[in-house]
Amino acid sequence: MTNQTLRFIRRGQTVTLVNVPPTRTLLEVLREDLGATGTKEGCGEGDCGACTVVVGEAVAGGIKYRAVNSCIRLAHSIDGLALWTVEDLATDPLIQSAQSPSRAEGAAGLHPLQEALVQCHGSQCGFCTPGFAMSLFGLYQNRVGPGQPVTRENAQAALSGNLCRCTGYRPILDAAQAMDQFPVRRVNDVELLSKMEQLKSIPRRESPDLTKNTAYMAPQSLPELLALRSAHPQAQLVAGCTDVGLWITKQHRDFAQVLDLTRVAELRQVLRHADHLVIGAAVTLTDAFDALVADRPQLRTFTERFAGLPVRNAGTLGGNVANGSPIGDGMPLLIALGASVVLLSSRGERTVPLEQIYTGYRQNIMAPDEVLGWIRVPLAGEGGCEGREFLRVYKISKRFEDDISAVCLAVRLQLDGERIVSASIGVGGVAATPVRASKTEACLQDTTLGNGTFEHAKKVLRAEFQPISDMRASAAYRREVLGNLLQRFWLEIQGTPHASLDTLSLEDLA
Ligand SMILES: Cc1cc2nc3c(=O)[nH]c(=O)nc-3n(C[C@H](O)[C@H](O)[C@H](O)COP(=O)(O)OP(=O)(O)OC[C@H]3O[C@@H](n4cnc5c(N)ncnc54)[C@H](O)[C@@H]3O)c2cc1C
Ligand code: FES
Ligand code: FES
Repeated sequence: MTNQTLRFIRRGQTVTLVNVPPTRTLLEVLREDLGATGTKEGCGEGDCGACTVVVGEAVAGGIKYRAVNSCIRLAHSIDGLALWTVEDLATDPLIQSAQSPSRAEGAAGLHPLQEALVQCHGSQCGFCTPGFAMSLFGLYQNRVGPGQPVTRENAQAALSGNLCRCTGYRPILDAAQAMDQFPVRRVNDVELLSKMEQLKSIPRRESPDLTKNTAYMAPQSLPELLALRSAHPQAQLVAGCTDVGLWITKQHRDFAQVLDLTRVAELRQVLRHADHLVIGAAVTLTDAFDALVADRPQLRTFTERFAGLPVRNAGTLGGNVANGSPIGDGMPLLIALGASVVLLSSRGERTVPLEQIYTGYRQNIMAPDEVLGWIRVPLAGEGGCEGREFLRVYKISKRFEDDISAVCLAVRLQLDGERIVSASIGVGGVAATPVRASKTEACLQDTTLGNGTFEHAKKVLRAEFQPISDMRASAAYRREVLGNLLQRFWLEIQGTPHASLDTLSLEDLA
């Protein structure tokens, strides 16, 4: 098996690495091969943020900056991209002051975000600090240069994947809001873009023909992906690698060959049609959720409770659906929205209602030569999300942020006045797969909104599934909470004022 040369831009230079195995993580390459030990290893599973780095990708004539976890990121996935670690913030010649964009200026002193961390006392033992600094760098590149102030909310969202055991979050959040008070120092996008272009034009030593025995295959087009999937059905398919990465770091699984679909142009888009969205399987959770929230703003809080930002910046909704975890959060929502998936192979395509792809615990109907190509999500439609449609999604987990659900319930009613025209309910955490609550839907359908209707529906919902007891919750708790969530939905549809996690900010909870 040939290991393709891995090339990326760091500190304005091309880094070329040979013989990097397909399952070597970016963190291993940084710390062990490049001696970049500023990037720390904490959990090795995307949970703590100590290993956060920022990647830059050329998109639509600009650079898209994303903070990601290097511990669960495969090194080859950054081929052709730009990379920053904590060591680069003060030394990258492409990070230049707005007043004097020169190489010398770029290397002068701490980056504004580092200066802000120092001045706000945002670090004690310092183990978590490189990760916080890099999440702040992502935020800085996305907001400060473009002249947008950093709000407390932005700071909280940007740091949602970083844990600190000793400093406490207040000084770090203060630093996030203070970093725009120093003279601006941003990456020179124009110079970086030209370096990325140059990198593309340098021929590779080995044949670019992926059909040869290439260990890490990253096709750029759909026909190429489907041909490779069909020729190498044993290759581990990956998208953002936020599930697969843990199989490597925690279960020590090794894959001789990896097929990465995130470069496939046709799968990288969100398309808005008259009555539905089409979300490509290579679209990150961050971008997919932005598209869903644009149509249904009440989903914002729920989407921000899915993992932390670095995981959402890498993972995909397609990966969430294909992985099919019974406690995955994307599926209950997508089931309630009536989403379907388009499965593709060189033989053709088929469209299947999302809940029908699952056949058992983490098993699905996809053939070895098939990939999930697109997710089709009906739009809210006329009347908007709080007009004809009433939608809520509830996630019950032990921590508010960056945690996996014990139970997830998504309920969508279409109303005509007081009449329930249709009910669509997706549930997670109560069966071996994500499921549709068909019996509960049937008892709500064609009834009128009323307490009696919901009292009955609560009983039906509690009896509809046989959840198991595990470390997240007991079966009895899961059943109880399902009914309670439906009660909460009923109260919200009445407009009954009550404390709702969806409307509280993290500061209210502190
Ligand atoms: C710290 C942390 C927190 C998390 N929190 C949450 C959470 O709150 N809620 C939640 O639901 N999940 C959570 N996850 C799980 C994970 O982030 C999601 O499941 C994510 O959506 C997976 O997408 P991915 O692109 O990374 O998938 P990958 O890891 O790349 O792939 C996952 C599986 O899907 C397959 N696959 C991927 N794309 C396709 C495709 N297009 N066609 C066919 N098969 C495909 C792969 O072969 C693999 O079997 C968390 C993970 C971590 C590390
Ligand atoms: S080491 Fe904890 S997120 Fe990577
Ligand atoms: S400064 Fe010690 S863990 Fe954050």
